[in-house]
Amino acid sequence: MAEPEAGQGRQMEGRARPVRLPFASTVFSQALMAASGAGLALFVLLHLLGNAAAYLGRAAFLAYARHLHGLGPLLPAMELCLLLLAATHVVTGTMLTLHNLQSRPLPYRVKAIRAASLSSRLMPLSGLVILLFLAVHVPAFRRPAGPSAELVRITLSRPGMATFYLLSLAALTSHLSHGLWSLFQTLGIVAPRYDQPLRRAAVIVSLLAGGVFMLLPLLALVWPDFLR
Ligand code: HEM
Repeated sequence: MAEPEAGQGRQMEGRARPVRLPFASTVFSQALMAASGAGLALFVLLHLLGNAAAYLGRAAFLAYARHLHGLGPLLPAMELCLLLLAATHVVTGTMLTLHNLQSRPLPYRVKAIRAASLSSRLMPLSGLVILLFLAVHVPAFRRPAGPSAELVRITLSRPGMATFYLLSLAALTSHLSHGLWSLFQTLGIVAPRYDQPLRRAAVIVSLLAGGVFMLLPLLALVWPDFLR
């Protein structure tokens, strides 16, 4: 086992042992986060395209719902994949966060926190908000026979619920923005000349996705005929 670097032993004194990572490697855990995150981001994008049918009116939204539920056994298979991806992402992400908090040498902590972007610092919090959102959203909307336009309109037009959706979607935008950039890093696109364009691309894609989702509760809130 590698000896601790000079001074590190003293910094670690009196602190808990770092959380053991799955398969004992930070690199593998980060790859697991990137792969599961990419799968979840793909779901969010497809879900966004499906829900965007609501902008075209009730008939388009119901046609999307019929199409989705016409997939037969493919739908529960996709739901199972989604659940496995989400479980992998949440468990590995929690362990990585705890591991990083417990093994970071103290003198570098302040500098590292200052250098990190806001969305990167908010990752654990925005992830937690998304988890809470899903605990409310999935039981509220998921119906074996397919989504109901009335249910979506009535739910999103309640001011409390619309506010909860808007705050959660802001958390999703922030999480997606840093997550996409991290994904590029894990894929090895690390040349300094790509840094700014990739950061910008991640922010633009996340803002677009968050904005298209957010307009739905906003429309339901102000337009009584939404999805009628
Ligand atoms: C205003 C924004 C949103 C609307 C209007 C919306 C709408 C819906 C509807 C109608 C369903 C039910 C689909 C069905 O019964 O087959 C659903 C399911 C679901 N939504 Fe959303 N959604 C929104 C945002 C999100 C976001 C941001 C996420 C992820 C972070 C998400 C994750 C899910 C999941 C995981 C399911 C369950 C999928 C399944 O089990 O088939 N939704 N959503």
